[in-house]
Amino acid sequence: MTRAKLDMIRDAAPAVLPSLLICDFGDLRTEVAKLADAGTKVLHLDVMDGQFVPNLTYGMPIVEGLRRHTEMPLDVHLMISDPLKYAKPMVEAGADMLTFHVEAVQDAAYTAREIKKLGVGVGVALNPDTSIRDLEPCLDDVDMVLVMSVNAGFGGQSFNPAALDKLKLLRESHPDLLLEIDGGINTDTIGQARAAGCDLFVVGSGIFRADDYGTAIAELDASIAAADKQKGAGT
Ligand code: DX5
Ligand code: ZN
Repeated sequence: MTRAKLDMIRDAAPAVLPSLLICDFGDLRTEVAKLADAGTKVLHLDVMDGQFVPNLTYGMPIVEGLRRHTEMPLDVHLMISDPLKYAKPMVEAGADMLTFHVEAVQDAAYTAREIKKLGVGVGVALNPDTSIRDLEPCLDDVDMVLVMSVNAGFGGQSFNPAALDKLKLLRESHPDLLLEIDGGINTDTIGQARAAGCDLFVVGSGIFRADDYGTAIAELDASIAAADKQKGAGT
């Protein structure tokens, strides 16, 4: 049932996904309404357990609360040590896409297949120091690869360009795979990521530290369009 939302995510691409990490958690309902007004099609939720990453954020109650207030697909980024322990509760809470970190699990292909059985989209994430070779065993079992352009854990870090080569290689080897980037995305870096073949662009501080979400997202969208135009002109 929720895999229909995966099609909504695919159809939204290329798209900016606001990351719910530094938003106003005291007024999430208003935040979601403002993001929807600003043209957001998919929300990115950063779940951290204080173990896989030093930071601690939120779990199922926030996912469930958001689910009651929006039809937008919920793209849940699990920065946790034991993704399978929480996969089913996350799906029951309303997650539509679950992305686990390859560094967190022993068997990424098994993890991906177990998540897929729950009827949601499945993504695998890798940190900047992790090679894309580590993804090979699971690439046939995932819908999306999340290439981290900062070390998972905190918003507001600067973009690591090593992500661009990973995106290019993945785009060449897997033309139909959804590719997402997360960390340090702004109006400069988003164009580089788009040119490298990325579909989904997670943005935290670039939206939530801006005065107006609509303006910030429109500028990011314009940078994606400019990268596409440049690519078209070059071919
Ligand atoms: C970092 C999170 C990101 C974060 C991005 O571990 O996965 O989603 O919110 O924030 P910015 O855009 O500020 O780098
Ligand atoms: Zn994230």
